[in-house]
Amino acid sequence: MNMHPRGTFITFEGLDGCGKSTQMGKLADALRAEAYDVITTREPGGTPIGDRIREVLLHSANEMDAMTELALMFASRAQQLAEVINPGLREGRIVLCDRFTDSSEAYQGAGRQLGSGTVLAMHKIICGGQQPDLTILMDSDPAHSVERARRRNLQSRSATADENRFEQESRAFFERVHRQYLAIARRDRDRVIVVNARRPIATVHREIVAMVRERLAGRIKARAKATKTPVAGGA
Ligand code: TYD
Repeated sequence: MNMHPRGTFITFEGLDGCGKSTQMGKLADALRAEAYDVITTREPGGTPIGDRIREVLLHSANEMDAMTELALMFASRAQQLAEVINPGLREGRIVLCDRFTDSSEAYQGAGRQLGSGTVLAMHKIICGGQQPDLTILMDSDPAHSVERARRRNLQSRSATADENRFEQESRAFFERVHRQYLAIARRDRDRVIVVNARRPIATVHREIVAMVRERLAGRIKARAKATKTPVAGGA
């Protein structure tokens, strides 16, 4: 079921340090250069309330129960859907979001071992089951990605922001997260595209742009069909 027929909702997923945020920024630039109306956001965060929740979630000094963590991820998401994602989609925009419910299924469901069932039940209640039109899963090696994320956080650590809580997790934790991401991609083949993120930035970018263009063209045709408007160039 298409719950947001006007805009297009695209999410980026992957391990910490996989290069997701760089690729999302580059995709946004490429789409804007083609005159698409694009908004970018991230989770946890993306709204004033979400940013405060993000601080609580990511600060390394906070010892947190896994269920509290999951509930806060969804609290941030509920606010983000209401304030940013759904208004953007209603206005016909392309909404790019750095992480969404797949992150909760991978990190809390598998990493924290709360189980996919619990996460997906919350997703149904809190997000009405709303899924992206397209998810780009940046596939990378756990050890390498997490090392990169740790280095990045050490370099950028300012007096105000400590966002290291997840990067301190064990190798086994990130292996579970990685396996779950691949399981989600196998399960939701129509939605999730796996991109090999172990390659140069420009190569990965070209592949992502090509795939997104293909999807957008498909959606424009599908909509035109639904409204019986003839599409230039035929079927
Ligand atoms: P962030 O600095 O945005 O990570 P990155 O740049 O590596 O994507 O931190 C977000 C962290 O929160 C990241 O470690 C993954 C985690 N997370 C979850 O565990 N569950 C979730 O549902 C979301 C959205 C993020």
